[in-house]
Amino acid sequence: MSQPWRAEAVFTESNTACKGEIAVIADRARVPASLASILAETELDMNGHVWARHHIDTARSAIRAGGDAFVAALARRMQGHGWAIAALPPTLPEPQLRCAAAGVLAAFGIPFFSIDGGNGLWLDGLSSPKRHAEAFGGLGAQAPHIDAPNVTSPPDYTALLMMRPDPADGGTSVLANLRAAVAELDDAERDLLRQKVFFEGRADGLHGVGDPLLPFPVLESLAGTGWIRWAGTMVTDPRNEPYFPVLQRFAEAIDAAAVRVRLRRGELLVVDQRRAAHGRDALGPQESVEPGHRRLLCQAKVRIEVTAPVQQALLRLGSVA
Ligand SMILES: [Fe+2]
Repeated sequence: MSQPWRAEAVFTESNTACKGEIAVIADRARVPASLASILAETELDMNGHVWARHHIDTARSAIRAGGDAFVAALARRMQGHGWAIAALPPTLPEPQLRCAAAGVLAAFGIPFFSIDGGNGLWLDGLSSPKRHAEAFGGLGAQAPHIDAPNVTSPPDYTALLMMRPDPADGGTSVLANLRAAVAELDDAERDLLRQKVFFEGRADGLHGVGDPLLPFPVLESLAGTGWIRWAGTMVTDPRNEPYFPVLQRFAEAIDAAAVRVRLRRGELLVVDQRRAAHGRDALGPQESVEPGHRRLLCQAKVRIEVTAPVQQALLRLGSVA
């Protein structure tokens, strides 16, 4: 099956190869410096788990006033790949980067957090050997997945803001086109994945994502439209043992559809969870990295709001995929 989004990919500026994989970079949508400065002046106070409405409106006003080309660039990338990278000025101090990135998320919809314990909107994943290797903030590879596949309303977008890349040059982001992977399966495999029999993790104490849905179907439709509830950890979860062969087959198809990009400081990766899974390669050797210098990635979620600038731009492009 053809994968046009691969053909559109542009090789990294550094041409750094990642473990023999094609090192791919989608050209970034650069946030104009003037717009970034305005967005950086917002604040991160929340209304419950949702970014305060007046900040969303303020950010969108600034984006509409000075970001038409930027919004169009985001929409084109989202339409083509199912993900987009907004590049904020890397020189912005950390607090301002968080605010400016929240403003960019407001262009997609309503920014929120689904997991308590963060820094306002953003949940920090400072890398540490104390975290489970595969978890957010862990040091190992993280298999492609969507966030919260085990609830009735997974986040429409997940967002990852790179505050500090791995000094040991690991932690490359992995992005996989889920619909392309579904297309690699045969009808019998797709039928199996439509059964409501699959488990992944737990779904307790989350915000803004509906109710727990365990077990769940991986596929909502044979065509692969709608949600594709997937996490690489499903292939080893004992609850899924009767279905390990088809899960393994799907995992291989997802790996085959994956591309890689190394996020730099100030880069905000926004992923359409209906279309793409995300994960990471393992971090590099950490023995000589001071704990306070380790990779710091921050996450937030977004719920689509049709009046948001990027949604409007997607409608103009004739595709909300
Ligand atoms: Fe994730």
